[in-house]
Amino acid sequence: MMTAPAISAWHGAGRRVHIQEVGLRDGLQAETRFVPTTDKIALADALSGAGLAKIEVSAFVSPKAVPVLADAVDVFGGITRTPGVIYSALVPNLRGAERAIAAGVMEMNLVMSASESHNLSNLRMTRAQSFAGLMDVAALARQQGVRVNVSLSCAFGCPMEGDVATDVVLDWCARFVDELQVAGITLCDTTGMAYPSQVLELARRVRARWPGLELTLHFHNTRGMGLANVLAGIEAGVDRFDASLGGIGGCPYAPGATGNVCTEEIVHALALMGYDTGVDLALLLQSARALEDLLGHPVPSQLVRAGRRLDLHPRS
Ligand code: COA
Ligand code: ZN
Repeated sequence: MMTAPAISAWHGAGRRVHIQEVGLRDGLQAETRFVPTTDKIALADALSGAGLAKIEVSAFVSPKAVPVLADAVDVFGGITRTPGVIYSALVPNLRGAERAIAAGVMEMNLVMSASESHNLSNLRMTRAQSFAGLMDVAALARQQGVRVNVSLSCAFGCPMEGDVATDVVLDWCARFVDELQVAGITLCDTTGMAYPSQVLELARRVRARWPGLELTLHFHNTRGMGLANVLAGIEAGVDRFDASLGGIGGCPYAPGATGNVCTEEIVHALALMGYDTGVDLALLLQSARALEDLLGHPVPSQLVRAGRRLDLHPRS
């Protein structure tokens, strides 16, 4: 008997794929220029209007460590919340969680790394210490009715340690599900080490073990494999992807890190293939083009350079 073919990443057939914008956090944390608070608020509002499913608005980290995001409270206070959009923020510790709750975040995105070396350089703690801290933060979040997502950095490889064993990733996921009772997990390719067959395999294993878990994949386009990795994730049944406007971004504590997969490039490609991202590409492109002025430099987005596939030119 023939088995039904797996849903192919090549034919969207109207399937919903959620695009989660991280440019205001992962993107801006890599910039040296401080983007004024009012501009951040306007950008968050524009992204809400463009139809993004979730927006990581800022990070409640130490303002000394990441001064460009020191205005997280004011940004949250200024945004207009569109019903149906989840407004999240990165939270590294209990201090950050208290600030995030006071600012009214809907979801805390907690972080730790699958690799000990990266965890030490990013968070200055061992993974065990980080996890103990996450337990306290998750307990507080539960008590306050705030959703918790955990982002596991370096899930596809570490720039200092190399490959990270699949079982190590699965073991941490199990602890997030069982002990932290998370709403979702994000597997992060912090420095663009993921490749499509690896993504397919890992995402399939996570989905098979926790079918009800809200799983997000977070890729950086460091080695040009970003879109291919997104398609591999879709092939594995994943329907949530982080992306950053203009393709900006990168972890300041990971050697060689560069931008996330670019939101408008992913939306453009998936729309052509028949997926429903819910995002208005024209509005998104307006924001992406405005980003170059905000940051004072060109952004990696190829779509900002080239325009959409059918933006035709007069004959010369
Ligand atoms: N919000 C506000 N302030 C915070 C804070 C938070 N979440 N976490 C720490 N601080 C404060 C501390 O109280 C301390 O203040 P003080 O010097 O006035 O006493 C100051 O920041 C420096 O703390 P630090 O030396 O960095 O150690 P820490 O153990 O308190 O904090 C981190 C460690 C990792 C939480 C902090 O360095 C940080 O937020 N780093 C940024 C991580 C990041 O954004 N990585 C990239 C994204 S994955
Ligand atoms: Zn990232």
